[in-house]
Amino acid sequence: MAERGYQGYLRRELPAEDAELTHVGPGTPCGEYLRRYWQPVIMTERLRDLPVALRVLGEDLVIFRDLSGDIGLLNRHCSHRGASLEYGIVMDHGISCCYHGWHYACDGTLIATPSEPATSRVRQRVVHGAYPTHEYRGIVFAYMGPPGTAPEFPRYDVYGEDAESVPFLLTIPCNWLQVYENTQDPIHVLFLHARSSGVQFAQSNLVRQVIEYRNTPLGMMNIQVRRMGARAWVRTVECMLPNGNQTGAIWEEAEEEKAFQRAGLTRWVVPIDNTNSMIAGWRWFSAALDPRGQGDRASVGDGKIDFMGQGEPRPYEETQRAPGDYEAQVSQRPIAIHALEHLGASDQGVAMLRQLIRQAIRALARDGTVAHPAIASDGMVATVTQDSVLPLPPDPDADEARLQSFGRAVADAVLDPAFAGRAARAARIRTVARDFAARP
Ligand code: FES
Ligand SMILES: [Fe+2]
Repeated sequence: MAERGYQGYLRRELPAEDAELTHVGPGTPCGEYLRRYWQPVIMTERLRDLPVALRVLGEDLVIFRDLSGDIGLLNRHCSHRGASLEYGIVMDHGISCCYHGWHYACDGTLIATPSEPATSRVRQRVVHGAYPTHEYRGIVFAYMGPPGTAPEFPRYDVYGEDAESVPFLLTIPCNWLQVYENTQDPIHVLFLHARSSGVQFAQSNLVRQVIEYRNTPLGMMNIQVRRMGARAWVRTVECMLPNGNQTGAIWEEAEEEKAFQRAGLTRWVVPIDNTNSMIAGWRWFSAALDPRGQGDRASVGDGKIDFMGQGEPRPYEETQRAPGDYEAQVSQRPIAIHALEHLGASDQGVAMLRQLIRQAIRALARDGTVAHPAIASDGMVATVTQDSVLPLPPDPDADEARLQSFGRAVADAVLDPAFAGRAARAARIRTVARDFAARP
């Protein structure tokens, strides 16, 4: 009789990774897609007197702030004979290569070639590779798409919130997609962050969510509804394609009634190359987001963040006893192999996100289409990440179905374009929730 177990011998093959979604170098479909959006590449505090070598989307670059304050993001290897500009001299304008003094402006044009005769025409012939940058709230963003195609730098509505932003940048040694798709895997909060290792964030994470997924103008969101006594807590967590994410308050206990509390985290997962990524963005601080003061601004910055399991140094045994997001994601292999997975009902969000990214990659490859967010009359882009905790008496017979419908109603309110701005959207959610709770 054939054995059902002990099949290790039959499970040794490693199929190839899904290159369409995971390979990011120049000329790859996903790499071209990601290059059509502004991407965070470094924290501005790193730009001191010396240039910094960095790698983004598989490209070796150098970044510096020149003495006039402008930022240059240039191909790392000098156009003359390839010496790295990380050894260059930062000038009043641009940077000068250490080897023979070729001097580049921040846009890559060649200002001077002092080792060449004055009659040399090389300055007219050579333009060094460079990318435009935009500095915002302590982070330098870059646009690495084709010249002339950069969209307006999007300002998300949360930037107008009454909350303090503290920039951070973490690196993680695995492919970008497995880090990014974690944001549409809300059930892991119950397991990884609560049951598997003890409660890592809020006690409320022990309450199992009713989960649904929804398309949004910028990508998608998950809707998580939890029963909290006589109230329901509706959390929506979004992906702003191609690689942005906003998440609610880290330690949300949902003890207070509230409507449309905004993000605790705005971040992007940016590939360094196929097997290394950075997570960069801001932690948002306010009394409303963190009533117990569990956050710590001083622990947020270059290479650090104020919540556990993001790759901070920990003893190996501790990471085994209390693994965090970092351990879960990195251990999926350098590039997770989709052909070996068995996606279940709880992976609907992951599947949906991959599908959205794949469609967008193919639309760009097929006809050059790139979706950019609509900018409202106030100059901001509306986003949908929020937490609302509102009265909803339990249905003793079918509470799960009731929570699900409630979540849909709140999500409809969050997405309703007729209500713009924080106050109007919060009021709309309260109205919808009150009407819903009043229904027989
Ligand atoms: S290699 Fe840079 S100036 Fe010669
Ligand atoms: Fe997590």
